[in-house]
Amino acid sequence: MAVTADLAVRIGKLTLQNPVMVASGTFGYGQEYHRLYDVNALGGIVTKSISLKPRPGNPAPRIYETPSGMLNSIGLQNVGLEAFLKEKLPFLKRLKGPRIIVNLAGESVREYVDLARRLEDAGGIDGLELNISCPNCERGGIEFGVDPRLTAQVVGRVRRVTRRTLIAKLSPNVTDIAGIARAAAEAGADALSLINTLLAIAVDADRWRPRVATVTCGLSGPAIKPVALRMVWQVHRALPRVPLIGIGGIMRAEDAVEFMLCGATAVEVGTANYVNPKAPLEIIRGLRRYLSARKLAGPRALVGKLAVPERLRGIPQGVAG
Ligand SMILES: Cc1cc2nc3c(=O)[nH]c(=O)nc-3n(C[C@H](O)[C@H](O)[C@H](O)COP(=O)(O)O)c2cc1C
Repeated sequence: MAVTADLAVRIGKLTLQNPVMVASGTFGYGQEYHRLYDVNALGGIVTKSISLKPRPGNPAPRIYETPSGMLNSIGLQNVGLEAFLKEKLPFLKRLKGPRIIVNLAGESVREYVDLARRLEDAGGIDGLELNISCPNCERGGIEFGVDPRLTAQVVGRVRRVTRRTLIAKLSPNVTDIAGIARAAAEAGADALSLINTLLAIAVDADRWRPRVATVTCGLSGPAIKPVALRMVWQVHRALPRVPLIGIGGIMRAEDAVEFMLCGATAVEVGTANYVNPKAPLEIIRGLRRYLSARKLAGPRALVGKLAVPERLRGIPQGVAG
């Protein structure tokens, strides 16, 4: 008898119809992709980061393709809170399938708190994802996500003004990812998403110039998947009860499975949307096939199941070389 897996998963109080979401900044606010396919099939949509005021973003060139990845320095260009509420949220509210997660970017703790407070009465929003990890802005963003004290402060202050599912999005540009993760969870985050982009540079050897106008920028795509898997695994080992959302170079269903084995309950698909707009749909289908072929009841059966050799069990992780 064929077994059809139930793909539903829980992230804190939220139930997702399947564990595949789309990552902030790679899906706009959903309308354009809805012309290509029915986005109601998605487990969740994470919006482009929203700030209180509209932001024009960084100067061009701000995108560059690298082997197995891409660099970007968009600089959190976005329509701002007012336009989001008037022009973008009504479309998202009408969707029946995906959970709607609004990603917030502030330049100060106060801006994050104001954003969360102003969204509290808006309908149609299921959760907030705090971008405390943007590498491409002069102020805010990454400054919070690389310091456990600031991480705890911003998560704790937002926690006090929202009842919504609160997700802290972590930066990979740190030495001790588990320490930052613990600070966010103890301050009240319901879940953690990881990773944002890795700080990087590309150089034009003929012109002796950086390829991207801001010089430093963020690396994403398959090139970062091994780093992201390692970080998800380390955080899951340190905080096995905290729901994790794995992000980084997910292109196919097997990539999503790898993140789940390392401890992710759900995933977000980013750069893949630029390569193949229907990648998230194919990942959902592939995941169902993967589970059914192995007669597994659902994605939970995979979470944290990476086999670790007996001889490594007592050895502190993070030691390389
Ligand atoms: C062009 C671009 C824009 C992005 N903008 C945002 C953003 O506004 N807020 C945010 O939290 N992450 C942003 N990200 C990071 C992604 O959400 C994701 O964490 C990262 O790209 C790693 O996943 P991937 O390898 O699947 O792309 C952006 C990524 C790209 C490529």
